[in-house]
Amino acid sequence: MHIYFSTFITGLSDIIEKELKEKIEDVSIKLIQDTFIIYETSVPKDRITSLRFFNNTFVLVKTFKTIDTSTKAINKIIKETINDQEFFHHLNKNIPKKKNSFRIVISVDNQMVSPDKNVLYKLENKISEKLNMQIHRSLPDVELWYFIRREGNAYFGVRLTTHTEYTKILNKGELHPELANILCYLSEPSKTDIFLDPFAGSGAIPIERAIAFPYNKIIAGDYSIHVIKTLKIKTNKVKKIIEVKKVDALTMSNFKDKTINKIVTDPPWGINIGKELDLEYFYRTMLQEFYRILKINGIIVILIGKKDIFENVLLEFSNQLQLKQQYNILVSGKKAGIYKLRKYI
Ligand SMILES: C[S@@+](CC[C@H](N)C(=O)[O-])C[C@H]1O[C@@H](n2cnc3c(N)ncnc32)[C@H](O)[C@@H]1O
Repeated sequence: MHIYFSTFITGLSDIIEKELKEKIEDVSIKLIQDTFIIYETSVPKDRITSLRFFNNTFVLVKTFKTIDTSTKAINKIIKETINDQEFFHHLNKNIPKKKNSFRIVISVDNQMVSPDKNVLYKLENKISEKLNMQIHRSLPDVELWYFIRREGNAYFGVRLTTHTEYTKILNKGELHPELANILCYLSEPSKTDIFLDPFAGSGAIPIERAIAFPYNKIIAGDYSIHVIKTLKIKTNKVKKIIEVKKVDALTMSNFKDKTINKIVTDPPWGINIGKELDLEYFYRTMLQEFYRILKINGIIVILIGKKDIFENVLLEFSNQLQLKQQYNILVSGKKAGIYKLRKYI
């Protein structure tokens, strides 16, 4: 058995708990707080690192008693680590093979902080000596994290997930894969689905659907020719069959009535090609078209930046679209809502 902790998007505890239990058969959840979960399982580590709905995952090495988040308290837990023999034994067991260098990261409520340098150097030297590893503060093979939370809990873990910083690999406005994964999951994926994202942009949602879930057909649409061109190149690289086509989501002229099972999408947040949108008109026309092309019992999962306008428009559809779930989240620090709707007549 191993104990792990993972971080995830704020506001989504319920759905994370459900998806984790579904994907990892013997999981036992020890603690779940907003953006943070601790759990135990016997499945191989690569099954854990391949869970696509977490931001980051760590194997838990040590838990600290309630602390505050002051530098003094942080120095105290580092000193406590230095003097803990069992800690080094446990750490050694959990360093992945062929990892020769490390650095220590200290995160307080997801912000990096620096402790007293002397205390930190002592710990670095001791880890280096005991585990025969090099200290590499810029490009290490493995990161060792103190993860300290406002609620007063603190953990030390070995980071298992390693992805390049998203600001370097994602296009402007492109959704993080974890969020795309959760949006797709909420739509209750099935292998018979005809799936559509009519505002596909860089394609985060249709690509995630193709990689992580079953489907019959995936259609990625956007009305910008330029976006479509780039998206075609990108989806070809994924080597999954995704039909990319020019779509105007406000007319959907290339879709017949009742032909789509699932729509998962992220419409413009207010401004499109430098022009401010009349969002009330935009949302109303979009929902009319979504309703028209959806099969009965079809599902819409939609990420919305301007929740108040959307919720007012949604009231007009209360006889056609049933609101199944709603989550309040943050996307790049901005408030947003996820809405899951079902067409019921
Ligand atoms: C918020 S972005 C989608 C970002 C996307 N989820 C991603 O990960 O890159 C909205 C997209 O909708 C497109 N768009 C705007 N109005 C549209 C319309 N009427 N029909 C189809 N696409 C439209 C824009 O070109 C833009 O790519």
